Amino acid sequence: MNYKEFYTVRGYQISEQHKKLLTPAMEDYLEMIYRHSLKDGYIRINKLADTLNVKASSATRMVQKLGQLNLLKYEKYGVITLTEKGKEMGKFLLDRHNVIATFLKNIGSDNDLYETELIEHNISLETLKNIDLLNRFLLNPEIMKQFEEFIKSNS
Ligand code: CO
Repeated sequence: MNYKEFYTVRGYQISEQHKKLLTPAMEDYLEMIYRHSLKDGYIRINKLADTLNVKASSATRMVQKLGQLNLLKYEKYGVITLTEKGKEMGKFLLDRHNVIATFLKNIGSDNDLYETELIEHNISLETLKNIDLLNRFLLNPEIMKQFEEFIKSNS
């Protein structure tokens, strides 16, 4: 995996922008919409509400807010598509999620989904970059093996 954009000026800008624009709840919505738009190119409001376990009315309100920020288009029959800006930010959020989930898995934490959700909204870009570097260091099978043996011998 490769998250080069964290290390670019553009990555920094996206990170700064989303901090100003989005609440944690909005981040969850955008991340989920982005996941589905990667697969299908869009998601419908009812499906979005189901996947996030919220009422369709709450989902609609949130989607309208994201629309006002120019991150998505809310079209006929409840179809939601992301704008270029929405895609860029959605990708940042999904990459951030994956870096944290990978990190938790690497250090042997099982319960990673819930913890990832907690951590992702509060982490700084600098820490994210550092964790990404560590993840990439641990991609080396020899090093990962040493680390796993170290964990075993200490637990
Ligand atoms: Co997430």
